[in-house]
Amino acid sequence: MSAPLTSSSRDELIQAIEPIIRECYQLPVTRTPGRVSLSSAILGPEEALGVLRTVLSGWISQGPLTAEFERQFAAYVGAAHAVAVNSGSSANLLLLAALLEAGRLQAGDEVIVPATTFATVAAPIVQLGLVPVYADVESDTFNLDPAAAEAALSTKTRALMPVHTLGYPADLPALAALAHRRNLVLLEDCCEAHGASLDGRRVGSTGVISSFSFFVAHNMTTGEGGMILTNDDMLAALCRSLREFGRADQRALARGRFHTDEHLQDYDKRYVFERLGYNVRMTDVAAAIGLAQLQKLDAFNAARRETADWYTVQLAGCEDVLQLPRPRPGVTHTYYTYPIVVREQAPFTRRQFAEYLESHGIETRPLFAGCLPDQPGFRVAPHRVAGALPVARRLRDRALFIGVHPGLQPEDLAHATETIRAFVEREQR
Ligand SMILES: Cc1ncc(COP(=O)(O)O)c(C=O)c1O
Repeated sequence: MSAPLTSSSRDELIQAIEPIIRECYQLPVTRTPGRVSLSSAILGPEEALGVLRTVLSGWISQGPLTAEFERQFAAYVGAAHAVAVNSGSSANLLLLAALLEAGRLQAGDEVIVPATTFATVAAPIVQLGLVPVYADVESDTFNLDPAAAEAALSTKTRALMPVHTLGYPADLPALAALAHRRNLVLLEDCCEAHGASLDGRRVGSTGVISSFSFFVAHNMTTGEGGMILTNDDMLAALCRSLREFGRADQRALARGRFHTDEHLQDYDKRYVFERLGYNVRMTDVAAAIGLAQLQKLDAFNAARRETADWYTVQLAGCEDVLQLPRPRPGVTHTYYTYPIVVREQAPFTRRQFAEYLESHGIETRPLFAGCLPDQPGFRVAPHRVAGALPVARRLRDRALFIGVHPGLQPEDLAHATETIRAFVEREQR
C-alpha cells in the first residue's frame, strides 16, 4: 500500500489524464440496433474525473463531497436541509423514523399512500409500526387522488404521502390544503421526479419532508443513492443521526469533543449513541457522480420531455386504443419513463402488447407494483384499503411503460413508434 498522493501531484495526474478521459468519451459507443432500453445512466468525463479525483484524494466514504452534494441539491430543489443516504428506500425509512421520534407520528398511525406505486413507499411504513392506507389514483396522472385521499381519512390518519409518479407532480395544492384542514403531516416521495415542478415550484419543497432516489435508472444517478429534504431543523438533525448508527450529530463536535452525563464521563462524542439508528450513508464516490449529474439534470429532463412529446405526436393515431400521457397546464413532467395504458376497447391485452414490443427489442415494464395491496407481500402485511381502487386496478392490468431516456437515439425512437403503430394497425385489421 502506498501513501496518498499530495494534492499537487494529484492535480498533475488529473491534468495529464483529463484529455485522455475526455477523448475516450468521444469514441463511438457500441449500440445494439433496434434495442429500445428502459434506462441508461448517461455518464461522461465529468463523472469519471469526479470519481478519480475522489479516489485519489483518499477520502471515499461519506465526507466533504457528500456535504457539498447535499448543499447543492437542497439549493436546486429549494429546501433548507438535505441529508444524503444510500437509497430512496432508506430515505423513506429515515424520514418516517425521524417523524416518529419527533412525536409527529406514533406507532399505529395511518399514512395515506397512492395504491399505484413502488414497494418501498409502503414497506417502511409497515416496518416502523405504522399502517399504510391505500387510496386510489387519478387515471391521467397516476398520482394520489386528493378526493380519494380525503375519503380514505379515519380518526387514525396522521399523514399523507403522495408520490410524484414517473415524474408527474402530484396535486400538491389540493393535498397540502387537505393536510392543513385535517392537521396531517404532508410527506413527498419524489424518488421518480427530480426537477419536476407544478406552477414553477419544484417537487420536494412543499411537504414537511421529502425523499429522492438516485438509483441508476432514474433521471439523475449516483449508482445507488438517496436524499431527504426538509426545512425542519429538528427532523434534519434526527435524519443525520439515524443515517449513522444513531450517534450524536457530528456537527456538534465543533462545540467540543466530549460528552458527559450521569453514566458517561468526558466521552468522545463520536461514540455517543443517542438513539437506535442505521448505517445508510452515501459515499463520497457516489456524491462525486451526483454533483456532476446535478449539473446535467435540467438538460436530461428537457431531452426526456422532448422525446415524450415526440412519442405522443407520433402515436396520436393510436389514442383510441392506447392512453398516452397528456400533462395538465402548469405541469413540468420529467418522464422517468413513458407510460401507455391499453384501453378497454383495444382488441389486445397488455400482455400481448408487451410481448410484441419485447420481441421487437423494446423493453417494457408494468407500472411498478400496479396496485400495491394486491402484491403477495403486501396482502398479508398490516394495511387498510380505501374503497375498490378501480383506477389502480385498471393500471395494474393495463399499464406499461417504455424508455424515454436521453441515451436513446432518433433511430431508436423511430423504431419504438413504428413498432407500436404497426402492432395497433395489425390488431385493428
Ligand atoms: C416512488 C419510489 N419510491 C422509492 C423508491 C426507492 O428508491 P431506491 O431504489 O433508491 O431504493 C423508488 C424506486 O425507484 C420509487 O420509484
